Amino acid sequence: MSGTAEVPSSGGEQGRAQPVLSARDIWKSYGRVAALRGVDIDVYRGEVLGLVGDNGAGKSTLIKCLTGAEYPDSGSIFLEGREVVFHGPLAARQAGIEVVHQTLGVAPQLDITSNLYLGRELRRKGVLGAWARMLDVPTMRRRAAEEVKGLGIATIQDIGQAVETLSGGQRQAVAVARAAAFGSKVLVMDEPTAALGVREAGQVHRLIASLRDRGMPIILISHNMPALWELADRVQILRLGRVVGVLAPDSSTMEEAVALMTGARVAPGS
Ligand SMILES: Nc1ncnc2c1ncn2[C@@H]1O[C@H](COP(=O)(O)OP(=O)(O)O)[C@@H](O)[C@H]1O
Ligand SMILES: [Mg+2]
Repeated sequence: MSGTAEVPSSGGEQGRAQPVLSARDIWKSYGRVAALRGVDIDVYRGEVLGLVGDNGAGKSTLIKCLTGAEYPDSGSIFLEGREVVFHGPLAARQAGIEVVHQTLGVAPQLDITSNLYLGRELRRKGVLGAWARMLDVPTMRRRAAEEVKGLGIATIQDIGQAVETLSGGQRQAVAVARAAAFGSKVLVMDEPTAALGVREAGQVHRLIASLRDRGMPIILISHNMPALWELADRVQILRLGRVVGVLAPDSSTMEEAVALMTGARVAPGS
């Protein structure tokens, strides 16, 4: 961590608090390929920020830089107004930034509770937990059930059910629930519904909306423009490693976003 820094707040004009997660002037090259060329991003409490762009626009690279999977060549990242430097994904996760990937990030043979608690199991109190490493299964079950119920994944009947017996949509819902549970501050999702059918994707989209309504800031990469237009509060458009626009689905059309994505239209002032 390199001390504190002022975040230039674009949210101020909109009368909002500081962004939960933001980045300024992020640059990242792979050899001669400049994947990111001075990207800014802000995500606020209680919003879904869509991130779109053609293949190769730099979406995944930006996400990797924000979540500790890549180290930017230059630029700054701020979490709750304080500058952060992540040396690896675990550090970002410990700081409260959770990622859901396109591929299902669950362990199929384990049940829902075990998946939610994978890598952060609760131990029994006292000697049994500290020395014998005994797990506090009843508490984990109870909290997992609360979490699943609170998120409205109503179709999951049995918290002890192996995840491999669930549908793809339910599995991805578990992956999202896992990411959202237990004190995470920001959720970042890179095409979380790409491997799902239409109905299953709808289920995951509803879950994302309910997390947003609970205040969770969410960055969502999706190729599904109509779904994103329904779900997102703002949509940021990347093209060739630069931000070419941020649109509000309330006041802009998908066609405008596509025109910016493809370079058919150039954003005013750029
Ligand atoms: N590990 C890598 N090595 C070399 N080039 C990469 C690597 N990752 C991404 N790139 C390049 O960086 C650019 C942005 O890629 P990416 O962030 O994956 O775009 P998107 O997710 O928007 O499709 C592309 O030109 C891609 O080929
Ligand atoms: Mg990508």
